[in-house]
Amino acid sequence: MPIQAECTVAELVRLNEFAYSMTLETGEAMAAQVSCGQFVHLKCGGERLLRRPISVCQWGENTLRVVFEVRGAGTAWLSRRKPGDRVDVLGPLGRGFDLSGRRLLVVGGGIGVPPMLGCAQEAARLGKEVHAVLGFRDEGRRMLTGDFIDCCRSLNVISDDGSTGRKGFVTELVEEFLQAQACGTCDPVLCTGCSGRPAPPEVLACGPKAMLRAVAQVCQTYGVGCQVSLEERMGCGVGACLVCACDMADGRRKHVCKDGPVFRAEEVSWDA
Ligand SMILES: Cc1cc2nc3c(=O)[nH]c(=O)nc-3n(C[C@H](O)[C@H](O)[C@H](O)COP(=O)(O)OP(=O)(O)OC[C@H]3O[C@@H](n4cnc5c(N)ncnc54)[C@H](O)[C@@H]3O)c2cc1C
Ligand code: FES
Repeated sequence: MPIQAECTVAELVRLNEFAYSMTLETGEAMAAQVSCGQFVHLKCGGERLLRRPISVCQWGENTLRVVFEVRGAGTAWLSRRKPGDRVDVLGPLGRGFDLSGRRLLVVGGGIGVPPMLGCAQEAARLGKEVHAVLGFRDEGRRMLTGDFIDCCRSLNVISDDGSTGRKGFVTELVEEFLQAQACGTCDPVLCTGCSGRPAPPEVLACGPKAMLRAVAQVCQTYGVGCQVSLEERMGCGVGACLVCACDMADGRRKHVCKDGPVFRAEEVSWDA
């Protein structure tokens, strides 16, 4: 059951030129309900009626951490908060990632990276084997990679211009990772972990829609399960206003805020 509360800002730090990390003292009741991939809906000043959805990056016993980039007036207001200020928080909201797979590959692109940190940490805590591939536009937008190293078996970084990690798109790293899982004897696309090789991983991804579509395609080619976190403009955040409706492969429409933001890749209509 989501909770609405005035939460105190415990910390606001800049991670790079574009991204801010905000830790909120939410109290135990809200923090205890969080699962990875969920989001909170933040009121960004009294004059703005609509809340802004921001994914939970990490959580503790009494705290939540969000990481955001300034995109408009609401996130600019958030970026000006100081420790001790209060922010009206509604959450946790939505359905997050299913971490039941034994081996997981978390994939983050740009501002889709922060929610994947919470997933990687939670999965590692549950004893899963976690690998990560992260894509950034350039070195200036790189963030949180040290935290991924601490909880993941492997981390690979790629950037659009090659200024951090290799030059290219995150999909290439996903494909290489999945190829490396094959036995070496049979077709890498068809090999599902024969010869005592580990079971194929489940892929969990958050980032721009074009990236998610490409990751979903690679996973389909390799016959690997894939969950994606979608982003849509939101109004209410709780399934009451239809602003966040998105098309599904079976022709139905679902609410990103309530049915998602995480969906199985095959559920999504990628052409919409
Ligand atoms: C489930 C979910 C999780 C998100 N997680 C993060 C995150 O962890 N970090 C982060 O930096 N951003 C995240 N976003 C995007 C973030 O919500 C927008 O950048 C933010 O709402 C922009 O508000 P603004 O007032 O600064 O910009 P404006 O453009 O002035 O916003 C105007 C209106 O459009 C809505 N809006 C604008 N862009 C988006 C968008 N991309 N998605 C949804 N609504 C939008 C705003 O909520 C507001 O109602 C997430 C979006 C969703 C849907
Ligand atoms: S934002 Fe209102 S239904 Fe999803």
